[in-house]
Amino acid sequence: MNIMNDSINNINNMVTNDITNFDNYEMITQFSEEAFHDFKNILATISGLTQLTMLKAQSEETKLYLSRIKRATSDFTEALNNYYDFTTGLNNNKKGIHVLSETVDEAISMVKHKFSDSDIINNRLVLNLNIQSKSKVYGYKYKLIQCFLNILTNAIDSMDKAEGILTVKVFNDSSNVFVNVVIIDTGSGISVENLERLFKERFTTKSNGTGLGLKIAKNCVEGHGGSLSITSKINEGTKVHILLPIYND
Ligand SMILES: Nc1ncnc2c1ncn2[C@@H]1O[C@H](COP(=O)(O)OP(=O)(O)O)[C@@H](O)[C@H]1O
Ligand SMILES: [Mg+2]
Repeated sequence: MNIMNDSINNINNMVTNDITNFDNYEMITQFSEEAFHDFKNILATISGLTQLTMLKAQSEETKLYLSRIKRATSDFTEALNNYYDFTTGLNNNKKGIHVLSETVDEAISMVKHKFSDSDIINNRLVLNLNIQSKSKVYGYKYKLIQCFLNILTNAIDSMDKAEGILTVKVFNDSSNVFVNVVIIDTGSGISVENLERLFKERFTTKSNGTGLGLKIAKNCVEGHGGSLSITSKINEGTKVHILLPIYND
């Protein structure tokens, strides 16, 4: 898992260094091709050996644990495929029309393994997904996925005791002009003075943080004609509210 997190951090660093430089995306794609190929081979080996051991296992308990390992490897492979599609998609600099809730869902699929209904880890992190809009937006799908991914990752990081609730809501405003994406966590929260610093400087409280995730998300949303705002209360949690203009065909 650490290897994968390091790779994702590397990819994120490369993307964040110059968000508009499409040569960088080519580099990322090339890197991804090689890294993901290696990861998938390792997972296939684990999965295959687990299957073999399952055939020889005597006790029901051992069989149960082995089947969990097998499920976890297939969940992990799926997460890896989603990351792969995402990094490849970032290479695509064409604008398009897409259903925003599906874009949100794709970002969620990349962090789903961190929640308690996944077989990969055992914690009490709960995902509460509430999608009430199927509205379309016009824009760069994979940059929007990156934006949601940055916000989701921050929310998950903030609940570092691996306990809490992440709520994601997608709905239209009453006049059907904007689609709202609201991401709420019950994590550490952000102090008033840190909230003011968030967008002014390269601000991070993490030892391996870049301090760029939120800025990229805000720039991306604003570049699509929308807005991003944050409210937070220390020790209670944080709410990120995104508005994007609905595309009417
Ligand atoms: N949901 C959140 N809960 C608590 N703190 C947050 C949250 N989102 C962002 N932050 C704070 O804002 C800082 C900047 O976030 P970001 O720009 O994504 O950079 P990074 O995650 O690399 O630190 C984080 O280090 C953290 O202190
Ligand atoms: Mg971040």
